[in-house]
Amino acid sequence: MELQERITKVALKDYSSLRVGGEAEYLETSTMAELVEVLMYAKKEGKRVHILGSGTNTYFGENLENLFVVKICMKGISCEDFEESVLLTAYAGEIWDDLVHFSTNQNLWGIENLSYIPGTVGAAPVQNIGAYGAELKDVFVSLSALDRDTLDVVAIDRDACDFGYRDSLFKHEAGKYVILSVTMRLSKKTSPRLSYKPLDALLLKEDITPQEVRELVVATRKAKLPEWKEHPNAGSFFKNPVITKVQFDALRFKYPDVPVIPHTQGFKIPAAWLIEHIGGMKGMRVGDVATWPNQPLVIVNYGDASADEIDEYKEEIRKKIQEAVGIVLEQEVNRVD
Ligand code: EPU
Repeated sequence: MELQERITKVALKDYSSLRVGGEAEYLETSTMAELVEVLMYAKKEGKRVHILGSGTNTYFGENLENLFVVKICMKGISCEDFEESVLLTAYAGEIWDDLVHFSTNQNLWGIENLSYIPGTVGAAPVQNIGAYGAELKDVFVSLSALDRDTLDVVAIDRDACDFGYRDSLFKHEAGKYVILSVTMRLSKKTSPRLSYKPLDALLLKEDITPQEVRELVVATRKAKLPEWKEHPNAGSFFKNPVITKVQFDALRFKYPDVPVIPHTQGFKIPAAWLIEHIGGMKGMRVGDVATWPNQPLVIVNYGDASADEIDEYKEEIRKKIQEAVGIVLEQEVNRVD
């Protein structure tokens, strides 16, 4: 079928886990050749292209004029075997958690703490996904990407990705690359990372396996976080703010119980705590928008909320916290208009 005939107009709320958004042109692509063809076509037609993984960290506005959404569906996993490790390469359209399932079943260590994170492999490096004391960057080796300007395929290694807490080159240079595949080095040697609660419960266990760590992470996430298919959401809506010592001392003076997470660049404060204890907005519902009662860092759409209603709610949270303690919460989920 010709490319133009495969492009459909869809309601993007069906392609975003927050279930908001208007209509736009849409195409799924599963080969490199077709991706190049699509990008050339869009350029010729003057369309704005948005590259989509599985839409679990993105929400769309209502007016999406001239927007063309291209979902990346390239699949495949390959392994290169070494004495103590395996070099695992996965195509961008693979579901991240399927990859974690695959690797733990092979008894490989490295990404088990990142179990049950929604989204695709191609989206994982963009925000350097992280949970329970582990980040993608810890095992990341390199990725291949299509440069959208030159249409060349380039290899980008770990240093060049400029990874930080929920941050990377692909956020700074948004729209420059389409990530095609990601390569990670996973270990065959038992190497659990169990310093974070509740994984520390496994510290005394002998002969621990990556599957056991995965099972505990999955159970913990299921207990705390809403399933987006039942209660539409996009995970943590804000980053945990990293503040200076002066800011932290002032905060602790006012709120002696404030928790702090160790961080190399300052004092990382759980945004969930700020939203609950300073914002007083844990579980608070306005129309169809609310924070999740077990984890107020997650904003949930209980029905028919619009992107603007979500933004009004989010601004209310930010305003309350900024006015009370001078900390500005940085949004983590991307809005596309
Ligand atoms: N807290 C509260 N009230 C609550 C829940 C939490 O005050 O209702 C406070 C507590 O002090 C708690 C602290 O927040 O100890 C941290 O909570 P949690 O362990 O749930 O983690 P988080 O810092 O809120 C981050 C990630 C999550 C990841 C968890 C687990 C960010 C922005 N979020 O959340 O990632 O699963 O750690 O490691 O860094 C996601 O990105 O979508 C996501 C869920």
